[in-house]
Amino acid sequence: MILLAFGIAVVFIAIALIVYARWNYGTLEKMNIPVVKPSFLLGSTPDLHLKVQHLEDVLRFQKHGKVFGVYEGRKPVVFICDPDLLRLIMVKDVEYFKDRRAIDLGDEQVNEMMDFLPYDKWKEVRNPMTPFFTLGKIKLVSQSMKESITDLCTSIRADCNFNKDQGFANILIDQKFEAFYMDLSFRSAFGIKIDDHLSPTNEVLKMFREISGQDAEFDFLYTLTMSFPFLTRFAPTLDTNATKKIGATFRNVLSARRSAGQKNNDFADILNEMIAKTSSPQYKKLGITDTTIVAQAFNFILAGYDAMKTISTMLTYYLVKHPEMQEKLHEEIDAFLERNNGEIIFEKLGELVYLNACLYETMRLVPPFIRPERICTKDWEHENLKIKKGTMIMIPAWAVHRDPEQFPDPEEFKPERFLPENKSKMHQYSFMTFGNGPRNCIGMRFAVEAMKYAFVHILKEFRFEMRHDTVIKYKPGVLFFVQYNHIPINVTKRA
Ligand code: HEM
Repeated sequence: MILLAFGIAVVFIAIALIVYARWNYGTLEKMNIPVVKPSFLLGSTPDLHLKVQHLEDVLRFQKHGKVFGVYEGRKPVVFICDPDLLRLIMVKDVEYFKDRRAIDLGDEQVNEMMDFLPYDKWKEVRNPMTPFFTLGKIKLVSQSMKESITDLCTSIRADCNFNKDQGFANILIDQKFEAFYMDLSFRSAFGIKIDDHLSPTNEVLKMFREISGQDAEFDFLYTLTMSFPFLTRFAPTLDTNATKKIGATFRNVLSARRSAGQKNNDFADILNEMIAKTSSPQYKKLGITDTTIVAQAFNFILAGYDAMKTISTMLTYYLVKHPEMQEKLHEEIDAFLERNNGEIIFEKLGELVYLNACLYETMRLVPPFIRPERICTKDWEHENLKIKKGTMIMIPAWAVHRDPEQFPDPEEFKPERFLPENKSKMHQYSFMTFGNGPRNCIGMRFAVEAMKYAFVHILKEFRFEMRHDTVIKYKPGVLFFVQYNHIPINVTKRA
């Protein structure tokens, strides 16, 4: 009898789980879009942990076209690669697509980052921060950027001097850039120099790697959580010790500045001005607290350092793959220095059109944030495409950037696409590295200027060369920031 009851319970639970996992099947088909066929239980992504997702996006785009649907486990997702539709979704009809997903990462300081905030709260938090990201304000922190860049160059020089007999140093360029951009972000935004700032194993870097899940390994359990989200309690989660420690550091820096009445014209000043408003009726109504504001400090660092590391690493990779382009960049930088009496003047970085083109072509080929996203907040239709409220929209940047109609020979590194004379031929919504519309990347200008500033200094002094083991392998399963192996590269001092 007990055995029978047990058997019935097992059958009942199994049926309930099957119904639960397949509950949303069919919803994408109703939108009249091609759908990546779902498996019996695990949606269209039964091998999520084994496949490099941004490369899968490209294959799906090639097979299904510019709009297609994927059941990411049990979640129906519409993928859009058509730049005209992206203009509607991200700008013209933005009131239908106001939000991103709210993600619970198990820590308030991270959950409250601007990325995840609902529209009204997001608007109130983003507005006061916007002025920091104008060119004029970024210039005010360019001295801090320069100090960080000088330290980076000193460290590469030391590597070269140490290896002077062999004539080159072998460095892991991604590690070098990772520690460097963390340092640059801390110094320019908060005026802090972290201990052991250029070491790839410094404590702060380790903690941010924990928070961003850089070293997480994805296994079948991870794939299962897409169909059975309640299993996430058994999957590795955010290390809240790390977030608590970093949060306390930010709070201390901000309160020390307030007590001393100190202003540095940086991001920390803006956060302190916002903290002063936490008792205002508007902030109270929207639930904007100290924690919300400290969360934006997390956002600044988390959103920036890893993406800048990736783009700089990949730019270096393309330059060693195409030495003639590196040579052309050296010539452009030498001529720039000659015109400016050997000085690297921040305001004149705009003159470096080839450097800018190389940087943008790298960002086209390797957008670090693989899928900007929106949630449909009101039923929307356009021609025969009907999207229901609550549907998740993803913009597979890797696929959008490999549309041969927009970028002929899409896999080729061709910086000339981004030279001023060609840029106007490009569809504005075919470049998604920083997203687009009112919810685009707030730090775009900061990131571009910082990377250009760094590369002028680096290429003024050094030349990079390919090694037999300079290869890139992307990590499977990743859904947010692209991850890959360490990239060894040879570096020499220029004559
Ligand atoms: C090369 C470096 C960077 C890349 C590739 C990048 C990329 C992106 C992308 C794709 C988005 C989503 C945009 C959208 O949904 O339309 C985003 C949002 C965001 N980024 Fe960046 N980012 C970079 C650097 C930075 C930096 C340095 C900061 C520092 C302040 C930053 C802060 C943010 C914030 C706060 C958001 C959320 C904006 C919002 O929801 O309103 N990013 N970024």
